[in-house]
Amino acid sequence: EKRARQAMQEAHQLVSKLYHYVLTETPYGVEAMKYLTKRGMSQQTLTEYQIGFAPDSWDFVTQFLKKRNFSQDLMVEAGLLAKSDAGKVFDRFRGRVMFPIHDSQGNVIGFGGRLLDNTKPKSQPKYLNSPESLLFNKSATLFNLHRARPHIRKRKQVLLFEGYVDVVSAWQAGFMQGVATLGTALTEQQARILRRNVDSVVLCYDGDAAGQEATSKAIHVLQQAGLVVRVAPLPQGTDPDDYIRQHGAEAFSQQVLLQAMPVTAFRLKHLRSQYVINDETDKTRLIAKAVEIINELDSPVERDLYQRQLAEEYSLTLGDLKWESKRAYKQQ
Ligand code: CTP
Ligand code: MN
Ligand code: MN
Ligand code: MN
Ligand code: MN
Repeated sequence: EKRARQAMQEAHQLVSKLYHYVLTETPYGVEAMKYLTKRGMSQQTLTEYQIGFAPDSWDFVTQFLKKRNFSQDLMVEAGLLAKSDAGKVFDRFRGRVMFPIHDSQGNVIGFGGRLLDNTKPKSQPKYLNSPESLLFNKSATLFNLHRARPHIRKRKQVLLFEGYVDVVSAWQAGFMQGVATLGTALTEQQARILRRNVDSVVLCYDGDAAGQEATSKAIHVLQQAGLVVRVAPLPQGTDPDDYIRQHGAEAFSQQVLLQAMPVTAFRLKHLRSQYVINDETDKTRLIAKAVEIINELDSPVERDLYQRQLAEEYSLTLGDLKWESKRAYKQQ
């Protein structure tokens, strides 16, 4: 098992170099290079992240690994190659921009592969990730952790993103304390890893419904792990990479990161966005829900602050709101 891991590890290291070489030094990488340049990625970023390109071929990596005497079955298990039902072995990643994923020591253990826009029918997923293997445990891995860790510790803060490109884009703009999950929901294990490095997390998920839902779930997992969470507001329909490209690093710092909201403020905002208010019944129900959220706060001072805001927002007297709040509390 140990030797199998070592071979998988060695193959990943070699193949990540190969993909990077294809992107930066060969004609097969030209289109992908144009695509990445158009997306604003600098040469330095491509080098730092060892971003690469998997050519649109069924046997490019297959032949490469065969020549170096790697066992085909092992390479299928490692997810660099795939096997058809008929038993034929072929390249798993074809025609994709490749983001190497490292463990916390900086060894390549997997890849995220993105299709170029407009080059393939929509039948293929935009991102294809390496499968779980001896080497690659998705629920215990965070993209970019090995690079971000010193910055996370120094700044006493981590930025948690949804996407690889968001991390890379933020890094290029000078925000180096960013990590991302790998296309799956944040796990308890990932939260514990963060907790070992830092007290405080800023969630920077996409400004869409999916991002909001993922934020709600991540908040819970992070708080369970003992982290203080704040939520950075992204405008509807944009993600951090979009935002940085449109508005620049300074705006991202001032308008997004520095505006990060405490969890209660986020949950109240989320609540408002979910309710359509037509009449007094709807309004009453919304207020009742808001009261529940505020009641979850341990600090009476914090509760009081949010209660005042809520009373003002809906033109209620603070006395009525506090009464409602006590009643809700007793009903629990
Ligand atoms: N993802 C995935 N499989 C997909 C779509 C998304 O695994 N079919 C994961 C990827 O890790 C991706 C993240 O979810 O980075 C966020 O998805 P999305 O917001 O759609 O992609 P972006 O990161 O914004 O990528 P891009 O800007 O290149 O579209
Ligand atoms: Mn550094
Ligand atoms: Mn998204
Ligand atoms: Mn996105
Ligand atoms: Mn994006």
